[in-house]
Amino acid sequence: MIRSAYLAAEGFEADLAEDLHRAGARIDTWHGRLALSPDLPVTAPWALEAWTDAREIAVPSVKAGADALRTIQRNWAHYPLLHHRRSMLLAERLPPVKARPLVFPEPAPTGHLGAWTLLATDRMLASPTKTSPFVNGEVHFAEDREGPPSRAYLKLWEALTRIGRHPGPGETCLDLGASPGGWTWVLARLGARVTAVDKAPLDAAIAAMPGVSCRQESAFGLDPRQEVPVDWLFSDIICYPDRLLGLVRRWMEAGAARNFVCTLKFQGETDHATAAEFAAIPGACLFHGFHNKHELTFALLA
Ligand SMILES: C[S@@+](CC[C@H](N)C(=O)[O-])C[C@H]1O[C@@H](n2cnc3c(N)ncnc32)[C@H](O)[C@@H]1O
Repeated sequence: MIRSAYLAAEGFEADLAEDLHRAGARIDTWHGRLALSPDLPVTAPWALEAWTDAREIAVPSVKAGADALRTIQRNWAHYPLLHHRRSMLLAERLPPVKARPLVFPEPAPTGHLGAWTLLATDRMLASPTKTSPFVNGEVHFAEDREGPPSRAYLKLWEALTRIGRHPGPGETCLDLGASPGGWTWVLARLGARVTAVDKAPLDAAIAAMPGVSCRQESAFGLDPRQEVPVDWLFSDIICYPDRLLGLVRRWMEAGAARNFVCTLKFQGETDHATAAEFAAIPGACLFHGFHNKHELTFALLA
């Protein structure tokens, strides 16, 4: 019997399998990028989303399948994989899920959304609840192709949308590993005061934005005990995750930052042990967002 399911981003199935193994959840089988488990849901950072109340439902006919879902609740997202025509016919019998791109900093949708997929012509897996309010965990934004100097801003938009908080006007931010300036652009547009730290220079247009100041030096050379405390510490530094963990701990211990949003970047093998250390920090949130590459986002809020 399947009781939970976990959707990996393309190419990250092995990382998700390792998460589930570490959390003690067995994988019964893979259904495309969806790991089906007979165990109760666990926390799995590499999942784009978890289906937390999965159950198998008979689909004797398209109409009967759609009726079974509508009896449970109104809104259902479809993970399409097999029996394309039949599953599309079934999806057409359900209320459409609005897929309008989000306009940052608009909050994530709060409406209740379940998920379903056809496992066989006569059987589906459905979960009335899942961890992401977006279809298949995919957050799409109305993009800005003019302002930001890199596409990294989408990763920060997603992280801030996901945690449901963002710096406000007048709040202070340190943006470590800021160059060329996508994250600094996001923060400055929110009205925050940003100190961008990078060994490389910031894009000139970003450096000139109101509220932005630059320090061209290594983020690891800053001593948090000597710095003016900030409301938010951001890091998108390219470095080994254990080095980032040391940096985050130093800033936490010094009480020099209230909120943290950092990217753990992996080169080659994923460092699951260090990811687990980040996840174990009380109050931490660790996730693989739709806009993340081979990296996880860590957030810790006051
Ligand atoms: C992925 S890029 C950051 C992109 C940026 N968040 C944006 O939105 O444009 C990683 C950055 O980390 C910087 N970096 C690497 N080592 C660093 C260090 N020790 N101190 C500060 N920055 C560092 C690199 O120079 C590079 O600009």
